[in-house]
Amino acid sequence: MMHGAKVLKARSSDWTPWTANWRAEQWRILRTRGKELLKPSNESLLKRHPFLLWRRDTQAPPPGLARTWLLSGGRGAGKTRAGAEWVRWAVLQAGYRRVALVGQTFSDVREVMIEGPSGLMATAARAADRPVWQPSRHRLEWENGAVAYAFSAEDPDGLRGPQFDLAWCDEAGAWTKGEAVWDNLQLALRLGPKPMAMVTTTPRATALIRRLKADASVVETRTAMAENAANLSPGFVGWMTAAYGGTAMGRQELDGEMIDDPEGAMFLRSQIDALRVTAAPLQLDDCIVAVDPCISAKPGADACGIVLAGIRDGHGYVLGDASAPGLSPLDWAHRAARLAEQAGASCIVAEANQGGDMVAEMLRMTGTGVPVRLVTARLGKRGRAGPVAALYQQGRVSHAGNFHTLEDQMCRFGTAEAAGSPDRVDALVWALWALMGEGQGPRVRVL
Ligand SMILES: Nc1ncnc2c1ncn2[C@@H]1O[C@H](COP(=O)(O)OP(=O)(O)OP(=O)(O)O)[C@@H](O)[C@H]1O
Ligand SMILES: [Mg+2]
Repeated sequence: MMHGAKVLKARSSDWTPWTANWRAEQWRILRTRGKELLKPSNESLLKRHPFLLWRRDTQAPPPGLARTWLLSGGRGAGKTRAGAEWVRWAVLQAGYRRVALVGQTFSDVREVMIEGPSGLMATAARAADRPVWQPSRHRLEWENGAVAYAFSAEDPDGLRGPQFDLAWCDEAGAWTKGEAVWDNLQLALRLGPKPMAMVTTTPRATALIRRLKADASVVETRTAMAENAANLSPGFVGWMTAAYGGTAMGRQELDGEMIDDPEGAMFLRSQIDALRVTAAPLQLDDCIVAVDPCISAKPGADACGIVLAGIRDGHGYVLGDASAPGLSPLDWAHRAARLAEQAGASCIVAEANQGGDMVAEMLRMTGTGVPVRLVTARLGKRGRAGPVAALYQQGRVSHAGNFHTLEDQMCRFGTAEAAGSPDRVDALVWALWALMGEGQGPRVRVL
């Protein structure tokens, strides 16, 4: 059914209304002379595709696009909307007839790319331009006969056989079988004079996204959440900025910049991401707080690392990061003690090397009943972190939630990009070592 489709010839001028000059000219006429003086053909285009006027340049196909357009963007930056508008133009104005819509799962294709608020149905300005979704056939059909088929990136083989002249891939940075899906899609994208693909995604450092970014034939545009803030709820923007602001993860999730693991990194972002869980098991075998005490409370001084971790059936869970800079000794002691009490921790582990007795005294002064264990470092920071990094490589540690600042510090630890003292990593290493070190850990003295 998909073979032998009638293919209209695409003309290069078909994309002119997406150029910055064309848009500037329409705005100039609208602002200075009013709607009546638009060319009738342009007025009717703008009625059908009002996005042409208010799109940003990063949401328009880049000049010189030959085959693949990668639109990297932060969360809520307008990626999906740009993809839907591009597909709509291609099928209604540029002669494309057979489209592959690929999402992480079928329901993502349907609920986001097709039926979602930024998707192909909701954003059609004219009812006649709204395609009809045929759920039983996983296909979307426009009045002019153009058809789009939905594919799940979980099933790369689904793309074997059919042929297309256009493809739109949403959130390809989240596809677990990304390269296989992409390779099959490339083989299927072979109809018409100029088959093209668009990938709209927050660019996570997966093999597929790395490959697309390294490919000279792929044209990339990038857009940040902040550029689209006017079209998002202020609550969402505020919440996302507070959660990610100032972290490398934020440059990826908010600004659309791919953050790769630096050379020499012991902890890999991709590993932390792959093992992440939303919540730890309710019943843990043990749970402790580890403290890397800070010596100075001066502003700008290192943070005091305070990390909560637990273990269940030999699997470690990072449960909380209460580290903070600028704390006085009594402040961090209180912070660690309260966290331990709230979490029902079995002990507080603290490094004894730097004034161990003072550390123990501070924790005692908080009046906490949680036992304090002093640990003595016999290895340097890197030596201590090695076995813990190995636990991550073995898939034995999960983060229960996102700990952006801690994870940034982990992923830079031991690389040329490391900056300042890795106080949070130190506390993390103590915590996991004490829980999972299986006798090879640091010497422990229970007070
Ligand atoms: N240029 C624009 N002008 C006006 N509204 C826009 C523009 N671009 C996007 N929007 C709107 O902004 C909102 C977010 O856009 P969209 O869903 O495309 O973002 P996204 O980057 O795909 O987000 P997510 O990360 O959640 O997938 C939608 O309501 C969309 O219609
Ligand atoms: Mg989206």
